[in-house]
Amino acid sequence: MKELIDQLEQTQLLTKKEFEYLLQDHTEESREYLFERARAVRHKHYGSTVFTRGLIEFTNYCKNDCYYCGIRRSNTEASRYRLTKEEIVACCENGHALGFRTFVLQGGEDNAFTDEVLVDIIKEIKENYPDCAITLSIGEKRYESYKAYFEAGADRYLLRHETANDEHYSKIHPNELTLENRKKCLWDLKEIGFQVGCGLMIGSPYQTVGCLADDLLFMHEFQPDMVGVGPFIAHHQTPFAQESNGTLEQTLVMVGIVRLMLPKVLLPATTALGTIAPNGRELGILAGANVVMPNLSPINVRRKYMLYDNKICTGDEAAECRVCMDNRMKSIGYELVVDRGDRVK
Ligand code: SAM
Ligand code: FES
Repeated sequence: MKELIDQLEQTQLLTKKEFEYLLQDHTEESREYLFERARAVRHKHYGSTVFTRGLIEFTNYCKNDCYYCGIRRSNTEASRYRLTKEEIVACCENGHALGFRTFVLQGGEDNAFTDEVLVDIIKEIKENYPDCAITLSIGEKRYESYKAYFEAGADRYLLRHETANDEHYSKIHPNELTLENRKKCLWDLKEIGFQVGCGLMIGSPYQTVGCLADDLLFMHEFQPDMVGVGPFIAHHQTPFAQESNGTLEQTLVMVGIVRLMLPKVLLPATTALGTIAPNGRELGILAGANVVMPNLSPINVRRKYMLYDNKICTGDEAAECRVCMDNRMKSIGYELVVDRGDRVK
């Protein structure tokens, strides 16, 4: 196992069979070794700094019906909301004062936010905060739409591919959503010039180690700037209500492998990781992650953006989240920085 981890660090690629072995047969000892190597690589490129992104969950309306997602259109129990442009800009103002230099605008696929409306919001944020990066995470759009957002000033785009295995993709999404289109969107975003993030949930229903190996091979081919990896967590009002959650161990192993395969990638210790274990985000950082994404959404909507059950940080003010994260990172020898946090070249 150690030889394979060394080989991955040196060559940044393994075969599908070798990835499967790494993902399936890890022991406490091999995990410790993997995390140690992953930390060494992240220290080489990023030292002990941790980048922050202020997450603004601006709409929970969604036209899609992903089986795993708490804000899917068929969840009639979800209480829907949209933030106005003024509310979104106010979140940025608050975030900027707290030291955030990247704002992530995330939401369901909500047709009320037309390209025109989004372009206007992006321009306004860029005008007010030219020292900040804007990341969008608003799903699958047409090439022309992505281009318009980029030209308006958006810098980055997060679009998890969710799974790189066709059969698996069709088991967790309705027919109208395809892996082919998801991937096309990712390539379009890259071509346009965005810094692009893909990613997946660990332990989503029907996922096998073969699927995870396919994810790694796809990510190697795509060479993303960012990768979002977090555990699947069941939501009680979805078709997957009774499914088991992804595990802390397997998520951390994936984080470690991704760091060795894509040494300079921007890799968050996700909120979902913090939801399945009280110190999940700290462990994520210690497994090779280098980004955290505290919530900047207004308190009164936090509980409504419930992608999965028991999501953490839904009751805290943004300032409290920042202080809490600062302390968490300090406690493990890392430091939050006031910086856009771009990927090193
Ligand atoms: N609509 C945009 C999109 O499709 O990319 C962004 C919002 S979507 C809610 C953001 C991410 O949340 C998804 O890519 C998915 O991986 C994650 N997610 C959704 N439901 C989840 C669950 N039950 N457990 C963990 N993560 C989940
Ligand atoms: Fe659209 Fe989850 S189904 S954001």
